[in-house]
Amino acid sequence: MTTAATTEHGFDGIRACVFDAYGTLLDVNSAARRCEDALGGGWETLAATWRAKQLEYTWLRSLMGDYADFERVTGDALDYALERHGVIGEGLRDRLMALYRQLDAYGDAAACLGTLRGRGLNTAILSNGSPAMLDAAVAGAGLAPHLDAVLSVDPLRVYKPHPSVYQLACDRFGVMPEAILFVSANGWDAGGAARFGFRVAWLNRAGFPAERLPAAPAAVVDSLSAIPDLLPA
Ligand code: LAC
Repeated sequence: MTTAATTEHGFDGIRACVFDAYGTLLDVNSAARRCEDALGGGWETLAATWRAKQLEYTWLRSLMGDYADFERVTGDALDYALERHGVIGEGLRDRLMALYRQLDAYGDAAACLGTLRGRGLNTAILSNGSPAMLDAAVAGAGLAPHLDAVLSVDPLRVYKPHPSVYQLACDRFGVMPEAILFVSANGWDAGGAARFGFRVAWLNRAGFPAERLPAAPAAVVDSLSAIPDLLPA
């Protein structure tokens, strides 16, 4: 599986490539993995619950109209995950939260961004992350030189997949949605972005089934290195 449906939708006329951050460019599991010394083999279960609750809380807070920034939501989700799995460790919460600000980038992230920029395209992150979290993570992962913009939902006080979030990228680059190729490893985010009107590539690393949502991504890839190949040379 590399690409699909590219001929039907086409990827001509793209002016900017906009990426989700957490799970797409940044490996959200790397924080818990680096605490394997304290968590043992349970790090994967903890990471999965942490991530699932983090996302759930973004959706719930958006529906409730009670925004708190992603740092707070991430901490709340971690507290839930630690309690649910009975994990207790001196300083562990602070260590995990600090590591979340310094997540590893996926190995193919910098090269993908660099290739796209080399072709004259704008590149950006559009993320739920708070500006401080994103700045730290992007700098720590060495991605800053490859990005024209890092856009956060924070000024809007609502999370993805609210359409106003995706509009931020159009406003930043002064283009219509169809001039943006949006890339996300999160199927629900890919669906939200497609519903908004972006041309979307879903980075389906895990080979999950298609989401049952009102709009589908135009392409499915299994690595970031496949993204430049979607676009006309
Ligand atoms: C983000 C989350 C959805 O970066 O991964 O926006």
